[in-house]
Amino acid sequence: MIKIAPSILAADFLHLERDVMLVNDHADLLHFDVMDGCLVPNLSFGFPVMEAVAKVATIPLDVHLMIINPDKYIERFAKAGASLISFHLEAADEAGKDVREYISLAKSCGVKAGVAIDPDVPVERLFPYIEDVDFFLIMSVFAGFGGQKFIEESIGRIAALRKEMERVGIVKDIEVDGGVSGANAKALADAGATMLVAGSSVFKAEDPAAAIAGMKL
Ligand code: DX5
Ligand code: ZN
Repeated sequence: MIKIAPSILAADFLHLERDVMLVNDHADLLHFDVMDGCLVPNLSFGFPVMEAVAKVATIPLDVHLMIINPDKYIERFAKAGASLISFHLEAADEAGKDVREYISLAKSCGVKAGVAIDPDVPVERLFPYIEDVDFFLIMSVFAGFGGQKFIEESIGRIAALRKEMERVGIVKDIEVDGGVSGANAKALADAGATMLVAGSSVFKAEDPAAAIAGMKL
């Protein structure tokens, strides 16, 4: 069954506890977007917010690090309560590092390790890491902002990654993030996505629980 990960970037920060409670019993993971203003042209939130959310969340925290040098912070996010941590291949490129360093570090901290890419990075660049990762995160918008329009080509990228996993006989989770809603959830699942991140389509909905259920159909 596909997992739904509401992104609290789209929550009401003045009522964060209420919004976490709204999805606790319906969603599978809680997605937490960390931005540094360097890897992406925006800032979001960090440890104090994460620690507050961890106190009320009853589902695993899925931390998406849109930051350069994620290796500096992976351990702290793991200690703050993350169950899954993804970081960008672009961050490893920028640092001149092999992304496997970040993967090993995350695993040694006891969290699931994910490698993310923006829509302009060829999906084939993920193929060498199929054996190493716990999951991949395919961005279906350019990382940095919630509420953007879903990029349709992402479906083909997910299908290509899934096909390669089947070819090599190692199937890992594929998470998709950006512009996800009930309108594209089925196509994404059919292409091979196993975790759907949804910000606006959950928290801006009148009935977040129904929005989550609508993506599981
Ligand atoms: C964008 C973030 C996403 C964002 C998704 O950089 O990584 O997780 O919160 O928001 P929606 O679902 O509104 O596109
Ligand atoms: Zn995200």
